Amino acid sequence: MSGKSIHGEWSSRWIFIMAATGSAVGLGNIWKFPYIAGENGGGAFVLVYLLCIAAIGIPIMMAEVMLGRRGRQSPVYTMKSLAKEAGAGKNWKYLGWMGMLAGFLILSYYSVIAGWALGYTVRSASGMFEGQTADGIVSLFSEFISDPEKLLAWHTIFMVMTIVVVARGVKQGLEKAVRFLMPALFVLLLVLLGYSMNTGHFAEGVSFLFTPDFSKLTADGVLVAMGHAFFTLSLGMGAIMVYGSYLPKDTPIAKTTITIAVADTLVALLAGLVIFPIVFANGLEPGSGPGLVFVSLPIAFGQMPGGIIFGTLFFILLVFAAWTSAISLIEPTVTWLVEKKGMKRLYAAVTMGVLTWLLGIATILSFNHWAFEFSFWGLTKENGIFDMLDVLTSNIMLPLGGLFIALFAGWVMKREHAKDELAMKRMLWFQLWLFLVRFVAPVAVLVVFLNAFNVFDRVG
Ligand code: PFF
Repeated sequence: MSGKSIHGEWSSRWIFIMAATGSAVGLGNIWKFPYIAGENGGGAFVLVYLLCIAAIGIPIMMAEVMLGRRGRQSPVYTMKSLAKEAGAGKNWKYLGWMGMLAGFLILSYYSVIAGWALGYTVRSASGMFEGQTADGIVSLFSEFISDPEKLLAWHTIFMVMTIVVVARGVKQGLEKAVRFLMPALFVLLLVLLGYSMNTGHFAEGVSFLFTPDFSKLTADGVLVAMGHAFFTLSLGMGAIMVYGSYLPKDTPIAKTTITIAVADTLVALLAGLVIFPIVFANGLEPGSGPGLVFVSLPIAFGQMPGGIIFGTLFFILLVFAAWTSAISLIEPTVTWLVEKKGMKRLYAAVTMGVLTWLLGIATILSFNHWAFEFSFWGLTKENGIFDMLDVLTSNIMLPLGGLFIALFAGWVMKREHAKDELAMKRMLWFQLWLFLVRFVAPVAVLVVFLNAFNVFDRVG
């Protein structure tokens, strides 16, 4: 298979790196990573997450980009034609289907949280955090999420923003959005790091994040860490696959992928280093859940000189980071509608946007009228449908998708084809990659699944 995707092609390797980093870096790094690290006890969780990125995430990301570039279509058709090329069964296309479903489910709640960031941009700009106590900021947040109308308004605005960019297509839409925003976000996080270093609790934050205490880590915590490795790298649902399908032929996949994964990890760790010292300095609870960033940072913005400017800038950049990720969540389905139904890109984007927006209402209500507690393998969650969607997608669907991508790339695809696509300079690197996708990644995903289902306890 060769030629270009009918949906367009990136202008250069750098644009691909920017776009894929834009997809990877998002709410997952700044909103989710800190709060799940907090809920799961810190250091040991972070270590498992880093191991998962290195041993599972990076090899699978290479595989996913490679499949995309070779297939050059939406994930469903890419998998179908690659399976045909490899002489394998038709069922591989369901991998594409599962990915589309996962993207739809994730975006429905992702857009709601991105809406929080929009709302907080305005709150920050209007000086609402100035002179507030930590308690005051906590109650600002609880009032905010208990008002479904407000959340709905922001969710709607964010969804419209996403549809507008996606409708304009790869070149006009996606490329322009990512070029300056990612570097700007990084710089702003460094500025905030300067603040948190001066809170007097920096060492405590560092030790919370990097001193592993394995007694705090549960089997579910390991599952959450692995699921997050997939979520944060945008893996296992075809997003990186479609982005790979727009990649020019001569791009070195391994180098490019590693750059993206390292950048993504750095942003998450930076966010953690910014947030936890503020959490400890203000006596907040690290395990307090999805509100963690929306409480800790506004406290800091309320106290620091120039807080209105920094706060507003920060939330604007968070919105942009979420925006570039949301685009990639919807892109697989949009390309599929264009290919399969011959829909115009605009209609495809609007159709998917509206459906996702509707489902998002369930998440909005999970934080107020429909909030209920439920237990999931020993984890107690408080925000009903939102948590269910999150657990289902991040902890089950994405790792499962990743598992099958690894199996396909390692066992089904012809070895020469993989070698040709990856075009690594040294045979040794290729062999290492093959070993990781054939054995390490699939076994690791399975073991973590079985462990979380308590299979080992029952056997032992
Ligand atoms: N990687 C994004 C984040 O960390 O916020 C979320 C995401 C985007 C997940 C795209 C999956 C995906 F396909």
